[in-house]
Amino acid sequence: MDGNRVYFIIKENGCAYTGADRIMERKNDMKVKKFLYGGDYNPEQWPEEVWEADMKLLKEAHINELTLNVFSWAALQPSEDTYDFSKLDKIMEMVRDNGFKVMLATSTAATPPWMAKRHPDILRTDGNGMKRKYGARHNFCPSSPTMRKYAPLLAQKLAERYKDYDNIVAWHIGNEYGGECHCDNCQKNFREWLKKKYGTLDELNRAWNTSFWSHTYYDWDEIMIPDERNENFVSEGGKQITQVQGAFVDYKRFNSDIMLEEYRLERDAIKKVTPDIPITTNFMWFFYGLNYRDWAKYMDFISWDCYPHMDTEPAEMAMAHDLIRGVAGQKPFALMESSPSVTNWQHINPMKRPGQMTLINLEAVAHGADTVQFFQMRRARGAAEAMHGSVIEQVGLGGTRVYNEVKALGERLEGMSDILGSTVPSECAIVFDWENWWAVDALQGPTELLDYQKECLNYYRAFFDLHIPVDVIGTDDDLSKYKVVVAPMLFMASEDYAKKIEDFVKNGGAFIASALSGYVDKDYLFYQGGYPGPFKEVFGLWVEEQDALAPDKPDHFEWNGKEYEARLICDQIRPLSELKDLIAENKKVLGDLKYFDDPAYQITAEAGDMTVDGTYTDDFYKGTPVITENAYGDGHTYYVGTQSSPEFYRDFMEQVTERASVKPVAADAGDGVEVAVRENENGRFLFYLDHKNYKVEIKKA
Ligand code: GLA
Ligand code: ZN
Repeated sequence: MDGNRVYFIIKENGCAYTGADRIMERKNDMKVKKFLYGGDYNPEQWPEEVWEADMKLLKEAHINELTLNVFSWAALQPSEDTYDFSKLDKIMEMVRDNGFKVMLATSTAATPPWMAKRHPDILRTDGNGMKRKYGARHNFCPSSPTMRKYAPLLAQKLAERYKDYDNIVAWHIGNEYGGECHCDNCQKNFREWLKKKYGTLDELNRAWNTSFWSHTYYDWDEIMIPDERNENFVSEGGKQITQVQGAFVDYKRFNSDIMLEEYRLERDAIKKVTPDIPITTNFMWFFYGLNYRDWAKYMDFISWDCYPHMDTEPAEMAMAHDLIRGVAGQKPFALMESSPSVTNWQHINPMKRPGQMTLINLEAVAHGADTVQFFQMRRARGAAEAMHGSVIEQVGLGGTRVYNEVKALGERLEGMSDILGSTVPSECAIVFDWENWWAVDALQGPTELLDYQKECLNYYRAFFDLHIPVDVIGTDDDLSKYKVVVAPMLFMASEDYAKKIEDFVKNGGAFIASALSGYVDKDYLFYQGGYPGPFKEVFGLWVEEQDALAPDKPDHFEWNGKEYEARLICDQIRPLSELKDLIAENKKVLGDLKYFDDPAYQITAEAGDMTVDGTYTDDFYKGTPVITENAYGDGHTYYVGTQSSPEFYRDFMEQVTERASVKPVAADAGDGVEVAVRENENGRFLFYLDHKNYKVEIKKA
């Protein structure tokens, strides 16, 4: 993000402006601001008389934006040096003549078959070494010289050709970047990436702890992408497990970077031609493969595709929006895609009930979306996605149930323009860190059932149920505006981050961590001198061991006079003084060895012990601490040494937020009703989202 707030503005006379600068220039012209309402439109597959009908039907449905050219590479470039823009020219003209804004895509998310045939380097290789043949989409190797030549070239040609269309509100690069490639070119690039990161093999050997299992590398070319052919194997529980976790996490970092590199080639090609048109690519949900926070640095605004599953709970949905808003630096984002009705790629694809589509999209708005966009405008004629929901279905007519609801939502959005540009006033935050996600995933032990995303949801759900707005932030984000910060299962964390947390708490903040926090540094080397590594003092405790439980055999604990389940992990928590004493005892036996100069064994004299709030009620560790708190500076920390039920998280977070003087945004909402809030100079907008009855009420306060 370039730090500018991005608005989508539509003027009455049909011109569109995006980006703070353009708004400043054109301030006096801003008679009407509107939500962009539209989405993917793929008219290439239809004869022109169908286009004419579409224009009318879409306008009638209050659609004002069309995302064009997402998958047309094969048509635009029929061979090595021929380009044919004639059809796109016609579409672009027709769409402009009909007053639609355009998000113009670069078409590079699916490569043409001829390109794969002539230049097989563009094809991906899977983690088992299988070189893929041409097919499907999102199918290019990010290191491929062919891709790196032709994709930016196409982007540049599109920019040059359409730069004067003042109805282009944004560029949409590629589509839903993701996946991995394990080919020789990627292998080479991985080694280069490692060289840049570590400088010397000694440093890499140290970071990956290669001296164990005889992994010491003497030549960069000995290093392989960790995959099924070398480091990974399938465990007893059926999970793919890796042996060198440092290499695994580095590969994830590399893969995110190499994909980003390809995106940036296209972006740079466009920026040269149209520096003022904002650029984005569409993100997806909690997407494991790419560190979206790194990507956000190269995007002018953030957009994402929202496709809840049939069993996605409302809190998870809300959290995904908040994650994306966080990636956007808490600024408004674009809802680039959602289905007007069904999807076709789930196991079972139920219809959205009357009102459900409206609720899902207004929920996005409630959490910060300034656009509502669909995939897609008209159902495909055949092949992929012919059964996917669309504004115009295969009957080819307006007036269907889905069409009518789309139309009604369009009308409703037109009356909501004063919400545009508003932000969410949160006093609480949950830390969600991609590198930690990979680190938890790579961990061998104590249980394969760890799920970082779910652990974050445990805490998020509590805020959600309590009607307290929450930001989802990364470890680089500033903490000063928050009263309460939760970092669930922050297994991988740097000493610098621990310092940042200490400062936050010293200044009066409340910080909450949970089991398996503070185990490894950014290299994936385990902190010595007791868990939670550099966080020991701020929590006033030491975690000596951790028990792993079968999912159907929970333990229990008591907190605040009530009994709750302890699930999956049971940390064995000791007061910090016990660790101090143990160090002293060891010194007596071992003498004052250099060993003890390690900062890991230096515990500040005034560091105190935590207070025990909850204890286990089962097993041999019955009566020992599980929920603790610690007064530190002007603030407090809380440690939750296990996982528990939604009931516990709600009760617990209610107490923590009350103590921190954080108030719910609404006390009057009924059961099953989500309350969200956005604020700007026009006021405070409260969204009541009734997930049971699919009703949305927006109140201005
Ligand atoms: C993704 C893609 C779209 C389409 C939809 C269908 O989000 O970006 O091209 O395939 O899924 O749900
Ligand atoms: Zn590759």
